[in-house]
Amino acid sequence: MNVPKHIAIIMDGNGRWAKKRFLPRIAGHIKGAEVLRKTVRFSGELGLEYLTLYAFSEDNWKRPEEEVQGLITILRNFLAENTKEMVQNNVRVNIFGHIEDWPKDIQEALRKICDMSRSNTGIVLNVALNYGGRTEIVDAVKKIAGQVKDGLISVEDINERIVSDAMYTAGIPDPDLLIRTSGEMRISDFLLWQISYTEIFVTKTFWPDFSKKDMLEAIEDYNKRERRFGGILSSGK
Ligand code: FPP
Repeated sequence: MNVPKHIAIIMDGNGRWAKKRFLPRIAGHIKGAEVLRKTVRFSGELGLEYLTLYAFSEDNWKRPEEEVQGLITILRNFLAENTKEMVQNNVRVNIFGHIEDWPKDIQEALRKICDMSRSNTGIVLNVALNYGGRTEIVDAVKKIAGQVKDGLISVEDINERIVSDAMYTAGIPDPDLLIRTSGEMRISDFLLWQISYTEIFVTKTFWPDFSKKDMLEAIEDYNKRERRFGGILSSGK
């Protein structure tokens, strides 16, 4: 089996998973955080090089205060309980998104996990937290405009590579496969620039039920695809 280099996942369905069990929505997020931890572990074991997870979109602040506070608590506990283990397991962590909107202690914990894992050589785990795909593009445009203003580059120099280097994902290959759980056929403002040729796999499984089996199913499906990047295959197809 050919394991792609980079898989991105939209982790969806925590609320519906909980509702089906007559549990509060937050119970789905708690189970979801546990599944996130397991997914990082088996992804590393499978030999995946990059795993990018959509954990909190900038639009998620619109959820009821109680749910937002619950997610903040889950994130705080997750970092307290998993930072050491992830660093020891050679996981390298990056955060994509505006971390300045999180409470101070969480900002510090996020900086800590990134700094402590900086020289790790195993799987690269990118966690999108307070992330927006359009915001990322706006940030990149500002960065490039600043470079032009400072005379570092000219407008004519701007090309795809310069834009890619201005994204949060600078230096990281684009995802080969995007998985979305719980059946919705939406991109939800995730990695808009990076997924232009990414294969998409949607599973009906709710995120809290996501397992290695679902991941293998997605990879097997991916293996059957012919990636043509807009061209044709050498066989002429
Ligand atoms: C989508 O389910 C999930 C989220 C908005 C958050 C994802 C969170 C986790 C996996 C837990 C770890 C989180 C953090 C912040 C560390 P949903 O609530 O949209 O589900 P629904 O569509 O069924 O309502």
